[in-house]
Amino acid sequence: MGLLRPVVGRSILRSMKGINGSKVPVIAGHKLLYGCNLKCSMCPFWRREDEELLSLDDEIRMMEALKRGGVSFLGFEGGEPLLRKDIGDILQESHKRFHTSMVSNGWLLKARLNDVKDHLNYLFVSLDGIGELHDTLRGVSGSFRHAIEGIEAARDHIPMAISSTITRDNMHQAKDLVDLAVKLKVSINFQIAYDYSTADPKSPDRTRLLDAINTLKTMKNEGYPIVNSSQYFEAVVNSWYLGESWRCKPWLTINVDPSGRIVQPCYVLNEYKGDLKVWDVDIRKVWNSYDWEPYEKCNKCALACYLEPSLFSWKNPSMVKERILDNVVSFISGDLS
Ligand SMILES: C[S@@+](CC[C@H](N)C(=O)[O-])C[C@H]1O[C@@H](n2cnc3c(N)ncnc32)[C@H](O)[C@@H]1O
Ligand code: SF4
Ligand code: SF4
Repeated sequence: MGLLRPVVGRSILRSMKGINGSKVPVIAGHKLLYGCNLKCSMCPFWRREDEELLSLDDEIRMMEALKRGGVSFLGFEGGEPLLRKDIGDILQESHKRFHTSMVSNGWLLKARLNDVKDHLNYLFVSLDGIGELHDTLRGVSGSFRHAIEGIEAARDHIPMAISSTITRDNMHQAKDLVDLAVKLKVSINFQIAYDYSTADPKSPDRTRLLDAINTLKTMKNEGYPIVNSSQYFEAVVNSWYLGESWRCKPWLTINVDPSGRIVQPCYVLNEYKGDLKVWDVDIRKVWNSYDWEPYEKCNKCALACYLEPSLFSWKNPSMVKERILDNVVSFISGDLS
């Protein structure tokens, strides 16, 4: 994609290496709010009450703390980030400091495009099925039409990809979604749904999932615009079907909840519940006093935002290129998202 300036690439490489072997979060994800205009069955977040949200000044305070902590990439999500009236101002501040991305359900994208288009390095719009299936999974009819209109309005202004979450209900449309991305002239990134305790269990059954993964891996190798690396698909197959774990490094990504609290060890295991306010602590100290070791063999989720950076290896130059220079934009879609 060639999205990152060389200077960004060099600083990322330094951060991923850490200083004297210390752990540095290179990537940050931030939920701006839990509130949402849709009601996806597999998603726990729209069901939560928002506490008081961060002001623009507090968002900046958070960004400064993340910068000091070593973060180079900041991805915004939620809830639905475009519901924030000050989203343009927040993204503008982020764009001054970080490679900035956002994941949105796309409903408001066309209407709010002018607020956001100059402040994003990358944009993901979620699409989980074709037409009615997407509307059913997202719980509100018209979701598909609005997302498509948003993509068509934004694609000439912002580098972008579809973000698609594979569930038990849409696995059979994985190929159709890639074809749709081609038709819309955007890329596509896949997540595999995780069963959060307060959402409907929608994770795919493993037998049928294998077919979908193999289809996507073949399409990736044939040159379709799939953002996930081939190694991502291989790692899922090796771990979940062959018993060969990948080593999870959740410390590469720091998540901050809508109140400014740091989410540890990862947002999957503690279901996006924060603890310490990000500006009250020295992130590097918190990061290097935390016991990350128990999570290295976890392999419980396959969220690309954790799995892709965890697979990174300095010994493989093609990984440096694909993971860091081409693909890092996808790490925060789980999102980033
Ligand atoms: C929580 S949403 C927030 C941003 C925005 N509202 C959207 O839907 O794109 C971010 C991403 O998480 C995905 N997601 C929702 N529930 C999930 C689950 N149970 N497992 C994995 N990903 C999930 C969504 O499909 C979306 O692509
Ligand atoms: S996945 Fe996104 S659009 Fe769907 S309910 Fe959750 S936050 Fe809203
Ligand atoms: S595999 Fe997933 S759930 Fe387990 S520690 Fe890593 S990011 Fe967290």
